[in-house]
Amino acid sequence: MLTWKLIPIFELGTLNTNTIHNIMKLKNLLIAAAIFVTSGAQAQDNVITVNTRKPGAVVQPTMYGIFFEDINFAADGGLYAELVKNRSFEFTPDHLMGWQAFGKVEIKNDGPFDRNPHYARLSSTGHGDWWTGLTNEGFFGIGVEKDKEYRFSVYARVPEGKNQMLRVQLIEPYTQAEHQEFATVDVKVTSRDWKKYTAVLKSPKTVDKAQLRLFLCDDNGRSGSGTMDVEHVSLFPVDTWNGHENGMRRDLAQALADMKPGIFRFPGGCIVEGVTLENRYNWKNSVGPVENRPLNKNRWECTFTYRYYPDYFQSYGLGFYEFFLLSEEIGSEPLPVLNVGMACQFQNNDRAHATATEEGLKEYIDDCLDLIEFANGPVDSEWGKVRADMGHPAPFNMKFLGIGNEQWGEPYFKRVKIVADAVRRAHPEIKIIGTSGPDAEGHNFEIGWEAMKRQKADLVDEHFYRPITWFQNEWQRYDLYDRKGPKVFAGEYACHDRGKKYNHAGASIYEAAFITGIERNADIVHMATYAPLFSHVDGWQWRPDLIWYDNLRCAKSASYWVQALFAQNKGTNVLPIQNSNFPAKGEDGVLASSVWDKDNGEVIVKVANTCNEDKQVSIVLDGMKQIGEAKVITLDLSNYDQENTVDQPNLIAPQESTIQGKGASLDLNLKAKNFVVLKIKK
Ligand code: AHR
Repeated sequence: MLTWKLIPIFELGTLNTNTIHNIMKLKNLLIAAAIFVTSGAQAQDNVITVNTRKPGAVVQPTMYGIFFEDINFAADGGLYAELVKNRSFEFTPDHLMGWQAFGKVEIKNDGPFDRNPHYARLSSTGHGDWWTGLTNEGFFGIGVEKDKEYRFSVYARVPEGKNQMLRVQLIEPYTQAEHQEFATVDVKVTSRDWKKYTAVLKSPKTVDKAQLRLFLCDDNGRSGSGTMDVEHVSLFPVDTWNGHENGMRRDLAQALADMKPGIFRFPGGCIVEGVTLENRYNWKNSVGPVENRPLNKNRWECTFTYRYYPDYFQSYGLGFYEFFLLSEEIGSEPLPVLNVGMACQFQNNDRAHATATEEGLKEYIDDCLDLIEFANGPVDSEWGKVRADMGHPAPFNMKFLGIGNEQWGEPYFKRVKIVADAVRRAHPEIKIIGTSGPDAEGHNFEIGWEAMKRQKADLVDEHFYRPITWFQNEWQRYDLYDRKGPKVFAGEYACHDRGKKYNHAGASIYEAAFITGIERNADIVHMATYAPLFSHVDGWQWRPDLIWYDNLRCAKSASYWVQALFAQNKGTNVLPIQNSNFPAKGEDGVLASSVWDKDNGEVIVKVANTCNEDKQVSIVLDGMKQIGEAKVITLDLSNYDQENTVDQPNLIAPQESTIQGKGASLDLNLKAKNFVVLKIKK
């Protein structure tokens, strides 16, 4: 019987990575030779030996998750199911952005919602054939499906006290048919005071780029002879995720739920920081009645002038209440990240006005403390009451808080200490997540980690959007981490393949291979989230992304399937693993990890082959006598440029098969650039 004691790499303390690597290579060669000799088996490219007797570190339930940021029209125009753009007439500089006005339309600013004061006044033109009204273009159009219902709502009044009618239509603007409109409902407005009116439209057909048209009419449906004020004009599918009225797009929320994410980080990303401090994501503006959540410019509107979106705003309709609720409904731990008193350093070069003073930090400390009260506080506390009034008296059980996104240097270290200390004093139960900045190595990264260690952060959020070569060099990244410091949150990462920024299978295989290293090191890595999450095909600023969509369809990328396969098969404990042929730094190879799933009595082995050729892989389950049939889930990522699209969403998807064990081993012909998950009942 072969026995080999693996020296955990992290015990090798002062050795440099090259020496460690050489030792690993030598050891792997010896293992391979020994297994070959002792078993007399056919030559294998890789022998992966899993010690099933010794379940090790716990794989945290939070290990694999999702990172949501409103980039690429991920919230308004994406997950948030609202179909009307600029519903409150607050976009600037043009309050009618997204609307086409006809007849006599004025924008006024003494409306019923103090934080969204603008509204539209529709007045008759005085001529029966000159109509007054508004058409909304939606977000790259309005997607509606045949036989589905859409809930229209509006706050309206007739200031002169003369009843008016609002004719509400779904139209197809560029149709060759006789009629543009294909669904109509009339809403009678009868009060001088502001009131909410609702109506349901049923669509007789599927149209991906429809528009919403409103006509001012008199009581009899003729061109109006009076005045009507309209505010917060809204249209939602009735069929949202879990049927919430202020809800999420069902298909996109379902795609998240299907991943079984253990952690849900929100609301970003750079959006937490803002271009200026005033522009930061202010969670307090994102809760309470949706009509009165003040608009904020989306910082991704202007970040890249080569993809410029002057109509990109945050309505905050998808706000912190909705984030917590969604988190609960998809079974994730919520992980909010708040501003530390610093606007985006990339855009401000540490300019004074972009950072809060020490006294100014009180506001940011209060933001943290009040958020904890909002999420977890009793219903009679100030912020707990806001949560309860919104429909969730029970606490959300928030356990983690990120303080600062991707900040670096002394200005951050100073501020995060002040904010984190205040949070710890009040809430020692909350785990604090600091950041090591935007770099995955180098000076700022090193001093970032040192500072987080000194400050005893519970976890450190590190980001790596990197090419294939980086992933190849970093297979052993977490083997080498100090076990005594904070835990790791790989909070934003993606393989960008030699700087090519688009989704393709050729990059996703490297993510799969790299994540085996995350999983093998589950004692130190407690969370990992790919980024960004969502992208509208007509409105993106950043690629690659995990899930793409247009107004009606969505496509799960190859990277999505990699994430989903890890998350759905995360198991409960790491199983020690030996790999006879671990790739050298900078090379392709076969990488693997294994976990024990105590809830299902299964050994789960994940193996990724990043090579251009097939590999013969033998998986030996040390501690098992006879393997019966094992389930094999295969993700074929061998077609380098291939990717799922909204037109062809299923080009890449996991395929299931079975394999028969031979004694205690499973012999696989692992195809080039394939990732497999093997599930073996014990
Ligand atoms: O994911 C896109 C951006 O990348 C995030 O907003 C930021 O944190 C990082 O720079």
